Amino acid sequence: MQSSLLEILACPKCTSEARLALHTSVGSDETGDINDGTLVCTDCGQEYTIRNGIPRFISQDQDYCGNFGFQWQKWKEIQIDRLSGHHLSETRFFNDTQWDRDWMKDRLILDAGCGAGRFTDIALSAGAQVVAVDLSDAIDACHDTTAIHGNRIQCIQASLFELPFKKSVFDGIYCIGVIQHTPDPEAVISGLPKFARAGGKISYNFYEEGLWRRLQAPKYLLRLITPHLPIGLTLNLSKFLVATLFWLTSLLAPIRKVRILNHFIPICAVHDPALTRDQQYIWTLLDTFDWYGARFEKRQHHERVAELLKLAELEDVRSVPGLARGTIPRD
Ligand SMILES: C[S@@+](CC[C@H](N)C(=O)[O-])C[C@H]1O[C@@H](n2cnc3c(N)ncnc32)[C@H](O)[C@@H]1O
Ligand SMILES: [Zn+2]
Repeated sequence: MQSSLLEILACPKCTSEARLALHTSVGSDETGDINDGTLVCTDCGQEYTIRNGIPRFISQDQDYCGNFGFQWQKWKEIQIDRLSGHHLSETRFFNDTQWDRDWMKDRLILDAGCGAGRFTDIALSAGAQVVAVDLSDAIDACHDTTAIHGNRIQCIQASLFELPFKKSVFDGIYCIGVIQHTPDPEAVISGLPKFARAGGKISYNFYEEGLWRRLQAPKYLLRLITPHLPIGLTLNLSKFLVATLFWLTSLLAPIRKVRILNHFIPICAVHDPALTRDQQYIWTLLDTFDWYGARFEKRQHHERVAELLKLAELEDVRSVPGLARGTIPRD
């Protein structure tokens, strides 16, 4: 963590945007990075640990995301374009956010629910300063995968329900593939805009309610049990399903009118030709574990997400299935 982060941090327990003071700073290196220390609220006195260069604002009872911490540490490189030799994350990022690459240069951007840093790395590559937040240990994976970007990346372990920021600080906020995995997606949708400044942009990507749930009936039957299993069992089940069914989804994927059948097969098949067959296998295993391990999967209607953004007084609100975005008014 860089001490400059203190300019935008506030105690998440206090409503008064109380300042945080850096009390101890052991292991601050020649780049000014603080590896270990404590942040103390000047108002309520609450202490927050800095460990491995990451300020930690979580309590044990908030972490319903052990599965995500596990998966993003285990498979932290496969979805990072720069580390795995593809452009899939870049294509998806600009499609999902609809942001202009040139607009991003030098902007302060919040990645809300960063996982292993797949999209953090894209935003950094576009020249942005990024603050990446995740509730789970995935934040340590993101810290590793994006370290090459130096002091343009700051990682924070915190919940989107209790973010440690002052209001109106970010030029842009994106939240990709996260809200459906929280206990209260609508609270996240309505809560994030206050952290963006006038003219700032917000983009959400989420699982859309509707056809997919019916197509993926076998997945949802299994999900009646899997979120309650220990992580090791869910991993073994995912490995078994992928080992048994990957050949079948690979066979169907290239055939245009037939490939829809893959949705009935209970693995999250990824057969993008930009990936090698080994990469397709690992990505399929990762996404299958993601399907079965997530404690919450609350699909959204994009019209409702757009309505919530309008209620939060955003302008220029647009939505299509799975995506919604808007802009904070200038006055
Ligand atoms: C499916 S992953 C997506 C990660 C990343 N955005 C991506 O697309 O690769 C969902 C992430 O949301 C995080 N998450 C879930 N609830 C959260 C919360 N309340 N606050 C912060 N992060 C949360 C999980 O830990 C997990 O890393
Ligand atoms: Zn406080």
